[in-house]
Amino acid sequence: MARNHTIAPARQHAKSKGMTAQILLLGQTLTFDGAPLEAPWQDCAHIDSEGGVLIEGTRIAAVGNGAALKAAHPRARCVSYGDDLIVPGFIDAHAHYPQTAMIASWGKRLIEWLNTYTFPEETRFADAQYAGRIADRYLDLTRAHGTTTIASFGTIHPHSADALFAAAAARGQAVVTGKTCMDRNAPDDLRDTAQSAYDDSKVLIAHWHGEGRARYAITPRFSPTSTPEQLAALGALWSEHPDCLMQTHLSEQPDEVAWVRDLYPQARDYLDTYEAHGLLGSRGLYGHAIHLEPREIDRLAEVRGALVHCPTSNAFIGSGQFDLPRMAARNIPIGLATDTGGGSSFSMLRTMAAAYEAAQHHGTALHASQLLWLATAGSARTLHLQDEIGTLAPGYYADITVIDLASTSAIAQRANRSGSVWEDIFATIMMGDDRAIRDTWIAGAATAT
Ligand code: GUN
Ligand code: ZN
Repeated sequence: MARNHTIAPARQHAKSKGMTAQILLLGQTLTFDGAPLEAPWQDCAHIDSEGGVLIEGTRIAAVGNGAALKAAHPRARCVSYGDDLIVPGFIDAHAHYPQTAMIASWGKRLIEWLNTYTFPEETRFADAQYAGRIADRYLDLTRAHGTTTIASFGTIHPHSADALFAAAAARGQAVVTGKTCMDRNAPDDLRDTAQSAYDDSKVLIAHWHGEGRARYAITPRFSPTSTPEQLAALGALWSEHPDCLMQTHLSEQPDEVAWVRDLYPQARDYLDTYEAHGLLGSRGLYGHAIHLEPREIDRLAEVRGALVHCPTSNAFIGSGQFDLPRMAARNIPIGLATDTGGGSSFSMLRTMAAAYEAAQHHGTALHASQLLWLATAGSARTLHLQDEIGTLAPGYYADITVIDLASTSAIAQRANRSGSVWEDIFATIMMGDDRAIRDTWIAGAATAT
């Protein structure tokens, strides 16, 4: 089967100068009007079994009944997907692209896992060419899994952020990343300083933030690997660039939480180590957030800081179960993420399945529409990109994933016996992987997989 076959974007099909060609995708479409975690899913999530999405250039021009769109736009090039499901491209709200090559490393819990596998691999990013190669590999892999936007950590090397920004720009892809900052409790060649972290991040912000589809996230790895001076410097930087995002880790494992208590004896709790240094805000992304105190939950709800659920990672590294139902009930924005390579899969379908399983531990059965919303519009909201991606609607970027609902014989035999499309979708969420991804469109251009 041909893989990575690139179809030219709609604008390149324009027949005459100044005219933007149109592409009409036909299939079953999923649209949201509202957040199915915050209102009954039946009121928010809609499947049109004969839907259509009209693309003009890099954007969606219309969404509606496929036949009606075809009649209204007879010159549009049609791509018929039959019963495939057309959804917004998946948005992975927390990943470490530098960990691509060491995903699925055996036998360690968080701190030992960092020291044994993660830091040695991140050291290799001193070589800018290696960073470029992994950035390309990572974006190709994730696209094959239906992911169109990622918020990723870099390494401490500023060129690790350059590499991912450049690779994403070459693909017309929206990306959030930042140089990771660490000035203690890491190997010598993976440490910066409070000043250099501030200076290097500031240069990267000036170069990349808002350049095309690039967005910068100020990136202290987590409190154990930053001195209070470094956290304060990055807090000051955020106040100078408040439209940047800030990404970090919070309360992933009990040993880590105890270590933070020792390192920051003045702090009321883990979140306070960020709050006291200007690193708590609505554009903050806090990964994992499993072992939270009531005060931390109250503060996150007050400031609407976003929590990023990393369920395959939480299971793989043995961290625990994020309490999604409790956080959603507090209206805390929640995104979904692979946390590659602590997470054990590049697939957001697999990640949705793990989110379902984690919520079951807390007595809640998430509906397929809620899982898909988390992986698209929910994650977009945590990245403050909810007006550009994560939704099939006019004006949004044509970042679109097409899902085969019978991609393996195991899934097909399950799908064939069900009478409901939601049951079919759920089976693909629970059992699907990159084989279920028929096509991934980014800014109006498809790579058939
Ligand atoms: N905490 C600090 N760094 C990391 C990381 O790279 N992965 C995970 N899962 N947790 C972290
Ligand atoms: Zn992480």
